[in-house]
This record gives sequence, structure tokens and C-alpha cells, in this order.
Amino acid sequence: MKHLKIGIATDHGAFLHKEALKAHLTFQGYDVVDFGCFDESSVDYPDTIYPCALAVASQEVDAGIIFCGTGIGASIVANKVKGIRCALIHNQWLAQVTKEHNNSNMIAMGGRVVDIPLALECADIWLKTSFSFDERHQKRIDKVSALED
Ligand code: RB5
Repeated sequence: MKHLKIGIATDHGAFLHKEALKAHLTFQGYDVVDFGCFDESSVDYPDTIYPCALAVASQEVDAGIIFCGTGIGASIVANKVKGIRCALIHNQWLAQVTKEHNNSNMIAMGGRVVDIPLALECADIWLKTSFSFDERHQKRIDKVSALED
């Protein structure tokens, strides 16, 4: 069985969240590709987030879960990459609905917004939820994609 490959990345604002997520996903059998950062030293979020988003867009990994202090910078960077639909989330409902409605291929969370248990729960919900395949949602996603060209 092919294990889903998940790219993860953060800046210093959520280093411990990223480490906890890595252990949590690995324990569940996911393959995890860690784009950093690798300690709590200050790092500019585009430097770690952008490579992770490129890996999702090129399908080197199946999905991406990213962090920064607020999640905002991380989501802005990820959404610069063509093909990325990154949702900034902070609760379980958003984790579910962004997969069902937006078919998001990345989620971003803020290490200073959500605590580690909530971040792990949101990640689990998002990974286990499927796109709804509703025609109306697909039409909207197609319109978003058309904006990239
Ligand atoms: C870093 O201090 C902080 O600005 C960053 O983690 C993020 O919140 C930016 O959006």
C-alpha cells in the first residue's frame, strides 16, 4: 500500500508544532517530508514554506501542512504557487469544510493561534476528509484555477 506523503514546513513561530505533527503523522504511517525549519532560530517563512508548496504543486508530496506564528504569512506564500489551494484554518470545522468545498491541497495554521493538540486534530480531520465532488464546488475551483493563467 502506498503511504500518503505529507510535506510539512514552518518558521520559528511554530517549530514545536511542526515537530509534534511530524511525530504524530509518522506514528500513523504517513511518509513525512520535512522542509524545516530545524530549530527555533529566527527564519523567514518564505524560505521554508515555498519549497514545501512547490513540492505539493509538483506532486512530489500528496499534501502540505504548514505553519508560522499566525499562519498568515505561510498561507500567503503557499498561495503564490500555481496549483496550490492553501487554507488558513484554526478549528475543526474549517479543517473539514475546506477539504469538502475547496479541495485544498495545503492547510496553514498559526503556532500562536492554535495549541499543539488542536493543530494535530485539525490535521487529522483535514487528511481524513474527502472533497465533496459537488458540481457547484468543482465549478468554483475551476474558476479559481482559471485565474492563474
Ligand atoms: C514571525 O515572528 C511571524 O511574523 C511569522 O511567524 C508569521 O506570523 C507571519 O505571518
